Amino acid sequence: MKQSGFAIFSLLIGALFLCFTIPVFAFDYFQPLPNTVPVPDNNPNTVFKVELGKQLFFDPRLSLDGSLTCNNCHNIAAGGEDGRAQSLGYKQTPTRRSAPTLWNIAYQTVLFWDGRARSLEDQAKEHLTDANIFGISDENVLVERLAGIPEYRRNFARAFGEQATISLDTIAKALASFERTLITPDSPFDKYIRGNNTLLSEAALRGMEAFRQVGCLACHFGVNFAGPAPGPALHMGDGFYELFPNNRGSKYDKQYHLTDDKGIYEVTKNPADKYLWRVPPLRNIALTAPYFHNGSAKTLVEAVRIMAKTQENKVLSDQEIADIIAFLNSLTGQRPALLLPRLPATPGVTVFK
Ligand code: HEC
Ligand code: HEC
Repeated sequence: MKQSGFAIFSLLIGALFLCFTIPVFAFDYFQPLPNTVPVPDNNPNTVFKVELGKQLFFDPRLSLDGSLTCNNCHNIAAGGEDGRAQSLGYKQTPTRRSAPTLWNIAYQTVLFWDGRARSLEDQAKEHLTDANIFGISDENVLVERLAGIPEYRRNFARAFGEQATISLDTIAKALASFERTLITPDSPFDKYIRGNNTLLSEAALRGMEAFRQVGCLACHFGVNFAGPAPGPALHMGDGFYELFPNNRGSKYDKQYHLTDDKGIYEVTKNPADKYLWRVPPLRNIALTAPYFHNGSAKTLVEAVRIMAKTQENKVLSDQEIADIIAFLNSLTGQRPALLLPRLPATPGVTVFK
């Protein structure tokens, strides 16, 4: 897999950065949210596709027994996740990891905590056929179900052309297009970085400096504080990986079960990939407790304290932690008001067998 190569690259960058504390390569460490999102050539965003994706996102008919929608676990009326350490999937089966937020997800080059999906489209395909998520493992069950709903047939034709069929591919493309619209602009941080110097509190400004000094910025930089967004620096499908825990052996490993799950190694089985995780985004982090892939840190205070120790081998004072959190709070953007979609009706017959 390509990941490991880049992981080494990213560790090197991190090391260089820590030595010099001045940017040594062409990324801007602090970046505002851009006005546009990266969109793949093979799935251009259109109004009809986004609207269809939104219907699918809120449609319980994606699950075998009609019990779950995407929004159950990624609640976009709130922080884009469900506030649980583990989500409850089909028949209340707990998921292995905590559901991440979908806000600003368009800026990630790889998806999932371990970065195993190379695009939002691939990510959706995995979820839609994951029996522990929606109870459906055979894509034909889902395709036939949606194709049996006349208004969905019309909406897929409008979104993908009259010749297009309803398939796992087009379902995933519509969902991905909708997800690319989930953006939270104009956080206090964005306004500050764009030139409004009066917006951040003293504590947040101290926290911003501490975030840099302590070394958080070595990994959490760029548009989403998760490394490079899709673009020339890092292509879509290539992950920005780091070790977690980076310094193994602190008391937190056991206390927070940090080494039970070995990250992308669980997929690649390559020993060099053990404990490598995608660097996760930090925008809206105040809204998405509990923290980490296993949701083991219930508060941001714990998460920051653990990060400083496990990643930088540093013990922060309560004041430094409070300041960093004041800074992280400034990353909460403005969530757009959302109208629930009107879902296509099932014509006089239940779709649940
Ligand atoms: C039962 C809960 C559940 C449902 C329902 C669910 N998800 Fe997820 N989702 C998760 C969990 C848990 C993860 C993290 C899994 C991992 O990283 O291994 C995740 C990860 C994701 C990611 C990757 C986020 C990131 O930070 O990389 C995306 C995108 C996503 N889901 C979109 C969707 C969409 C679209 C739907 C509806 C088709 C959906 N999810 C339905 C639980 C759920
Ligand atoms: C060497 C790279 C690295 C450094 C340095 C680093 N982090 Fe992280 N951070 C990560 C990785 C990787 C994860 C994902 C952990 C996981 O998989 O649970 C993470 C997770 C987090 C989370 C939880 C995200 C979530 O959605 O649950 C927070 C908060 C966070 N980091 C803040 C910080 C702060 C604050 C600092 C500085 C004290 C810092 N990080 C330093 C790599 C790093």
